[in-house]
Amino acid sequence: MAKKVPVQFTLNGEERAEFVESGATLLKALRERHGDTSPKGGCHQGTCGACSVMVDGDLVLSCLTLAETCEGRDVSTAAGLSQDGVMHPLQRAFLDGFAAQCGFCTPGMLMAAKALLDENPNPSREDVVEAISGNICRCTGYEPIIQAVLSAARANSHVAA
Ligand code: FES
Ligand code: FES
Repeated sequence: MAKKVPVQFTLNGEERAEFVESGATLLKALRERHGDTSPKGGCHQGTCGACSVMVDGDLVLSCLTLAETCEGRDVSTAAGLSQDGVMHPLQRAFLDGFAAQCGFCTPGMLMAAKALLDENPNPSREDVVEAISGNICRCTGYEPIIQAVLSAARANSHVAA
């Protein structure tokens, strides 16, 4: 039986403490121990991006990240994007721009887009294409997603102006 190790971290701003199996992925811990099913398990081998979350502000693939390495760190997921029932501008733009169909890739896309906009609030189309290049979508053809990210960036710069 796998050894259990204690892991404490913040998840979308809330303190969390849990025993996880040594060697378990962050994806598994989030979904099975913390009830956060927003990161999706697509390929489980680092190629689809559906499991993308942020750890200490960096975009990571939670299927390739060990839960125990998140001790003391700050984990954020798509489930934490909306605040007090108000959608994040990226979520609003995805909804308004029909950028989600089956939605399986959407949480990972949102986190990749958030990581981009945190770093670069005024990205070019090429910046967006590069930022989401690790995320596979089987439904949308990518164009609505690219346009949604650009639209959210424009909306944010309008708010900031
Ligand atoms: S499930 Fe992690 S990259 Fe596909
Ligand atoms: S909306 Fe279905 S995989 Fe992207």
